[in-house]
Amino acid sequence: MQDLQIKTKQKAKNKFIITEGVFSMDGDLSSLKQITEIAEKTNAITIVDDAHGDFVIGKDGKGTPNHFHVGKKIDLYISSLSKGLGSFGGYIATQNNVVDLCINKSKSFIYTSALPSFLVKHSLKRFESNREKTKKETRKKHKIIIKRSQRNRF
Ligand SMILES: Cc1ncc(COP(=O)(O)O)c(C=O)c1O
Repeated sequence: MQDLQIKTKQKAKNKFIITEGVFSMDGDLSSLKQITEIAEKTNAITIVDDAHGDFVIGKDGKGTPNHFHVGKKIDLYISSLSKGLGSFGGYIATQNNVVDLCINKSKSFIYTSALPSFLVKHSLKRFESNREKTKKETRKKHKIIIKRSQRNRF
């Protein structure tokens, strides 16, 4: 965090803080509270890849920024549909002009065939049911894992 503070204090036209929400190797959580505080102070843009936190932690599985109550402070939220949702593809949640920029400039989006419609339908269905029915038991297990990972005890 100290390194991030030093680096974001440097002069730059644009500053980006890019992190994962949950780091997959040990299940460590990103310090999003401190990160968003630094971003606010230094006018940095925050990007969170939450492939391993989305549909898993946060209220109703809404992800790591939701878990830390900083959802509104994240500029770009990126997630995968293949992990917590068991589907395929991914999504970006951000403001409309950035969505337009991604649609018009992302090479991987422009030069690739669209996802098959049955997969998109499947994802949407799973998306809604997963958000609504994140089971109590599963959430209990996740809380235990998070606590253990924070104490480095597996
Ligand atoms: C942090 C992170 N983001 C994104 C991805 C890509 O996910 P997908 O396999 O759905 O493309 C991975 C894959 O392991 C990942 O670890």
